[in-house]
Amino acid sequence: MNRTSASFMAFDELRSAVASLESDLASGPIVPSVTHEEIRGYLTSRYDFTKPTALDDVCADVEGMLRRWQVQVTHPRYFGLFNPSVTLAAIIADTLVAMYNPQLASWRTSPAANEIERHTLAWLTRKFGLPEATAATFTNGGAEANLSAVVVALTRAFPQYGEDGLRSLSAAPTLYLSGEAHHSFSKIAHLTGLGRRALRPVATDSRLKMDLDDLAARVASDRKSGCAPFLVVATAGTTAAGAIDPLPELASFCRSEGLWLHVDAAWGGAAVISPRLRGHLAGIENADSITCDAHKWFSVPMGAGMFFCRHAAAVGEAFRVETSYMPGKAGMAVDPYTTTIQWSRRFIGLKLFLALAQHGEAGYVDMIEHQTRMGDLLRTLLRQAGWRIVNTTPLPLVCFTRDGLATGKFLAALYARQIAWMSEVRLAGGEPVLRACITSFRTTASDVESVVREMSQLT
Ligand SMILES: Cc1ncc(COP(=O)(O)O)c(C=O)c1O
Repeated sequence: MNRTSASFMAFDELRSAVASLESDLASGPIVPSVTHEEIRGYLTSRYDFTKPTALDDVCADVEGMLRRWQVQVTHPRYFGLFNPSVTLAAIIADTLVAMYNPQLASWRTSPAANEIERHTLAWLTRKFGLPEATAATFTNGGAEANLSAVVVALTRAFPQYGEDGLRSLSAAPTLYLSGEAHHSFSKIAHLTGLGRRALRPVATDSRLKMDLDDLAARVASDRKSGCAPFLVVATAGTTAAGAIDPLPELASFCRSEGLWLHVDAAWGGAAVISPRLRGHLAGIENADSITCDAHKWFSVPMGAGMFFCRHAAAVGEAFRVETSYMPGKAGMAVDPYTTTIQWSRRFIGLKLFLALAQHGEAGYVDMIEHQTRMGDLLRTLLRQAGWRIVNTTPLPLVCFTRDGLATGKFLAALYARQIAWMSEVRLAGGEPVLRACITSFRTTASDVESVVREMSQLT
């Protein structure tokens, strides 16, 4: 390998820049204090774009803004919504992609990039236990993957949907998901023309998992009143509390009712590679489709989601298109512009490929299991410090409270003292509680201990 190439020299510099950023961020503030007026004033005073500015100066200035004016999601004490710390390999991958700017819309334009993505997705397809012929693609994120699932499920359930639209159907399609499912489905119902009322919120049990009896009752009642149930969305790792819906039972219910089962495992899906955690996802192998984000627990930069679907023909039907201006098909190879929502397509998958190749599967298992242990430690220490844990999950996400807690005031004090970043959430529509999720493979036991210790001193 030519290690004297310009890119390798640049990557050596990148490596040291990333290392010094990591240590600077870890010892600096997590939460910014700034107003939009301040940022707008700063930008207006410096950048009217009438004359050129030296690139080094602009870069230094932008980096300064990013240091001062954002929640530092890669900080080891960022316990927030699932924005991970990112691996060096993934940062290098994004740089390489920007340098070469491969266009993945068609196979002929970017054979190497298309095959690298295919190879990487095939690895995860096997981990999920899906058949080899599964259609899999990188997406911008989980919302796009979820949208793909609804479009393909509609296409398969209602053959006239693609040509004549929903208005041609004699019965209104309905889809079922728990109140804890991700809210991208509200937008998707709107976008697809299903309408937001097509979403049927299913009750959850005391552990925030979908209640099967309620699901069965709602499907039966909708059928009776002339609706056309077509899809159940299970969540494997809910955003608010990390709950995993009962996948084996949902799979057999969907099979017997002829319904599509989509598993939104945007965050939790990565657990499938961990021997310690994979049992919690049992049943996912029976899904019709799966969402899993690489930019969550696979620790690569945004945006990198993934969509897996066992019905490759339905995927091809949903996104088919014919043009004379695109390069012609290369044998059996898939042209992603004909099998996905996107047209022009960035080389999203390189960051997962490069990081996986560097760390190996075992390295990734270590990262995921380390974060899980940090979540367990957080739970234990919070309990010992008198907090009440209000969610149940094997994933490193802890929701907690104590009597008389004013979450807003408490979080303001937590941010002001730069102790950690965490958020508040209402579970099953209840009172707000605190939510802390371990999202960084760099979070250590001493980070967790110090956060719990310092939180106990806040009123
Ligand atoms: C369960 C779940 N599904 C879907 C999404 C949406 O994913 P993205 O933000 O990658 O579009 C999220 C985001 O947090 C999520 O937690």
